[in-house]
Amino acid sequence: MGYSHLKVAREESLAIVSVSRPEKLNALSDATLTELLAAFTGLRDDEAVRCVILTGGEAKRPAFVAGADIAELAGQDPLAARRRSRLGQGVCDLIEGLGKPVIAAVNGFALGGGLELALACHVRIASADAKLGLPEVTLGIIPGYGGTQRLPRLVGMGMALELITTGRMVDAEEARSIGLVNRVLPPAELLAAAKELAGKIAANGPIAVRLALDAALRGASLPLAAGLAGEQELFALISSTADMREGLKAFLEKRPAQFRNA
Ligand code: COA
Repeated sequence: MGYSHLKVAREESLAIVSVSRPEKLNALSDATLTELLAAFTGLRDDEAVRCVILTGGEAKRPAFVAGADIAELAGQDPLAARRRSRLGQGVCDLIEGLGKPVIAAVNGFALGGGLELALACHVRIASADAKLGLPEVTLGIIPGYGGTQRLPRLVGMGMALELITTGRMVDAEEARSIGLVNRVLPPAELLAAAKELAGKIAANGPIAVRLALDAALRGASLPLAAGLAGEQELFALISSTADMREGLKAFLEKRPAQFRNA
């Protein structure tokens, strides 16, 4: 399927989605969000895809995504704003619940909706020139694509509230030090590092990866006892798979496992 504001590339079991609005630092228009919804729905349903990298395409300045498209926000009334928030949150929820890992390769500005997209991803790595933040309050609005909920869960309430209320951007090194990104790379090495991570994930049992993501993500919003109970159920369920038998047998036979997603 062709997209106007995205590029979707496939390299075997890896899909690379690049947001591409070069003249607007990859800002998220509603049309871009709608395309992201379609693209990620397709990737979710494609059993051959084991891992996804989300990044920003070439732009005027290094950019992952510089936020929601401010020109579109300018005319919104409350009903339009709620629709937009539902659309943006829908994209983020879809990414978080994709059932396969999504790696955000943050290659420049990740602001507002751009940071919210990255927060919905399962792993975040950044180029040394990345700048991340939720500047919404500087525009007189609040984050609407999940930022007020996912940022505190990731970096803790104290740091999140500072960033949300000041709108301050952090550079890549500070982002790493507060746990907002896992590692920082020279810009030219970012995509290769993301692909290396993706390769490690793709070599693992895909059902195991999916259920482990599910256990962790669902458990994060549950009391500990409920999360642990959920983990038990999924641990039992994984024991019905051929891949579990293959993974354990391969270890005992001292050979690499051949997982079949079954
Ligand atoms: N929405 C719409 N257009 C955007 C945009 C956004 N979120 N971010 C950048 N752009 C556009 C600019 O309007 C400009 O377009 P123009 O060339 O037609 O005037 C182009 O992208 C380049 O941006 P510019 O501001 O000239 O680049 P810069 O290097 O001086 O500054 C930023 C870069 C990221 C600091 C600045 O663009 C910015 O603050 N953007 C908004 C970030 C934001 O608040 N996002 C949250 C929105 S809720």
